[in-house]
Amino acid sequence: MKILLFGKDGLLGNELKFKLGQLGNVVALNRHKTNFLSGNIINFDELIKTIRTFRPDIVVNAAAYTNVEKAEIEYRLAYKTNSEALEIISYETRVLESILVHYSTNYVFDGISNKSWNEDDFANPIGVYGKSKLQGENIIKSSGCKYLILRTGWVYGIQGNNFISKILQLAQEARELKVVNDQVGSPTNVSLLADLSIYAICKIQKDARLYGLYHLTSCGITSWYEYAFFILSWFKNKGFNLKIGPNQIISISSDNYAKSIRPLNSMLNCNLFERKFSVKIPHWKTEVSNYLLKYNNFLFNKN
Ligand SMILES: NC(=O)c1ccc[n+]([C@@H]2O[C@H](COP(=O)([O-])OP(=O)(O)OC[C@H]3O[C@@H](n4cnc5c(N)ncnc54)[C@H](OP(=O)(O)O)[C@@H]3O)[C@@H](O)[C@H]2O)c1
Repeated sequence: MKILLFGKDGLLGNELKFKLGQLGNVVALNRHKTNFLSGNIINFDELIKTIRTFRPDIVVNAAAYTNVEKAEIEYRLAYKTNSEALEIISYETRVLESILVHYSTNYVFDGISNKSWNEDDFANPIGVYGKSKLQGENIIKSSGCKYLILRTGWVYGIQGNNFISKILQLAQEARELKVVNDQVGSPTNVSLLADLSIYAICKIQKDARLYGLYHLTSCGITSWYEYAFFILSWFKNKGFNLKIGPNQIISISSDNYAKSIRPLNSMLNCNLFERKFSVKIPHWKTEVSNYLLKYNNFLFNKN
């Protein structure tokens, strides 16, 4: 089994590049050339050459333009990366009759709902990032290739800066900690996302009825404020010395920001994934606790 991974150095790609080895021979690429193969997905000639040379059985695309704020300005680059590149990738995948695994986002929804979003709910993104990702999804769906699209959200991991390390850093520096209370979702451990992706890939290889688009986050719901409260409470309860405790976090509304391009409710309903793949997805609190248990010292001493 030959697997081609794009975006190997990103939060998710970094996790997948090791774990995909369970499935076969992995060539993992970033935007630079490795052994004559280029992983720059917006250099279309090189992209075609890479896929045709390697002839993968499975293409996993973890590369994306992910800066939600900057996408409003660099919209051409966002569309090129998140949608136009998918025309090439899905076309080449279809010709090879291989499988395309791709990731999308809860930001394809406008956030105006009180319930969690289902896969077939109307997608109406409010920012360029979400729009470009939705366009990418649609290109894949209409390409005729065999695909698995996983929409996820609020992903965290040990690599790079993310919400957990940011909150901890601010609490250690005794900086004013204001966190929005009206945007809700489900924090998702990148390790869980990678494990469930691989599990799903194994299943779809055996059962073609499973191809399609699914929501995949941890289960349970929280706001950024409650999430921050949970993180600082965890450290406080374990005896870590923080300059700002959970009760000093200032809860604010998104109205405090001039223009919010982030949906208020971005909670994804993952029942379809659980049902089709016969799996029980863990609660975000369990996952965050396990993550903090594993990495608390590293996170605390990092700042
Ligand atoms: N993280 C989240 O909370 C979240 C939430 C919802 C959905 N997702 C989706 O999950 C997937 C993985 O995201 P992530 O969190 O791992 O994002 P990430 O950490 O920003 O990684 C994205 C990777 O894509 C690479 N990339 C960008 N343009 C490229 C290009 N032209 N050619 C090749 N590589 C390119 C980046 O490389 P450079 O560093 O060189 O630019 C980076 O390594 C994406 O599809 C994203 O939309 C993530």
